[in-house]
Amino acid sequence: MYIGIVGAGGMAAYHCKGFAQAGAKVLAVADNNTPKAEAFAKEFGIGKTYGSLEEMLLSLPELDAISIVTPNKFHSVLAIQALKAGKHVYCEKPPARNAQEMQAMYDAAKKSGKHLMFGFNNRARPESKAIAKYIKEGVVGRINSAQATWIRRAGIPGFGGWFTDKELSGGGPVIDLLHMIDLALYFMGYPEPTQVLSTTFDDFLGNPHFKGPWGIADGKGKMDVETACHAMVTFASGQCLMIRNSWAEMNEREVVSVTFQGTKAGGKVERLFARDGYDETSLDSCRLYTEEFGNQVNRDIITERDEFMGRISNAVNFVQSSRGEVEPFNTPDQALVLMRITDAIYESAKTHQCVSL
Ligand SMILES: NC(=O)c1ccc[n+]([C@@H]2O[C@H](COP(=O)([O-])OP(=O)(O)OC[C@H]3O[C@@H](n4cnc5c(N)ncnc54)[C@H](O)[C@@H]3O)[C@@H](O)[C@H]2O)c1
Repeated sequence: MYIGIVGAGGMAAYHCKGFAQAGAKVLAVADNNTPKAEAFAKEFGIGKTYGSLEEMLLSLPELDAISIVTPNKFHSVLAIQALKAGKHVYCEKPPARNAQEMQAMYDAAKKSGKHLMFGFNNRARPESKAIAKYIKEGVVGRINSAQATWIRRAGIPGFGGWFTDKELSGGGPVIDLLHMIDLALYFMGYPEPTQVLSTTFDDFLGNPHFKGPWGIADGKGKMDVETACHAMVTFASGQCLMIRNSWAEMNEREVVSVTFQGTKAGGKVERLFARDGYDETSLDSCRLYTEEFGNQVNRDIITERDEFMGRISNAVNFVQSSRGEVEPFNTPDQALVLMRITDAIYESAKTHQCVSL
């Protein structure tokens, strides 16, 4: 399988490693910043570089798939271009800036019959896979309620780079840290959302004490996104989900987790950080809370360590599922539900009203 990458930034390295591990070959990398594409190609031994996806598609018809690793604004337009050219598409998260863009990607994937999958790498973490297995085997029962949390104390990704510019990113931590929302929904069986109530805040934007270790920080671009969000989502099934996402808030530390309460067992997948934003300082765990013979039992599930939070394994799954060897870890219809929820979060925060979906 031959793959072309678009966007030679931080995340593309994980894609390269995953594709190679699955036996696919990256033939080219395109970036509108051509020196960046060239440096990336040199580092990863990639033969060709281009200034755009268009050029790459014209020059390399043998490509089977395109991996999109650009700022969020370009996900939908590039994915549709690649799908129309008959390529499978692996696109980083968030799927798009909003549900309308995601719907267009969904339609293009359906029309082309090609595989469209997203960088929801947290589903590919060993801890998430372990919990998913217990849920699938019926140990947890029905998940009534869940809490999706990705909170940072000081983790705004750059000031004035694309992350803080709503036009380029689609939003702040609601959309950037949507991994735990996706993971909670996945554990819950991706139920149909009915109502969303939310509040967002934009404190600490531009305050250097609240900046994370990534992202361009020239302070010149726009900073018009939220820095924290608290929300509740209810579902037609009667289930409910609480959401806390922040880049900057007076929290104790960075916490990334999904907790859930089922009819037979509860549980948690968690990553704690000793130092905000530094994956190498993280501590991952997953556990189940059950009742056995009248005893309250907390079970730690021991898994292998994956510092990269499933980013490489998810790219491996994209290649294997494109070849039809395994089921994909995530699907476009799930991404559409997720983007409808993020749209409703922003709408509710703006109107101070509960939004019905
Ligand atoms: N899954 C994860 O854990 C994770 C983590 C961080 C970022 N991301 C996502 O990955 C994507 C990229 O993030 P990043 O941190 O690598 O960004 P980055 O800014 O490091 O890199 C983006 C690259 O895209 C290039 N680019 C911009 N527009 C382009 C276009 N139209 N065509 C070709 N190239 C273009 C830029 O020049 C840049 O080199 C984003 O969607 C982000 O949300 C995912």
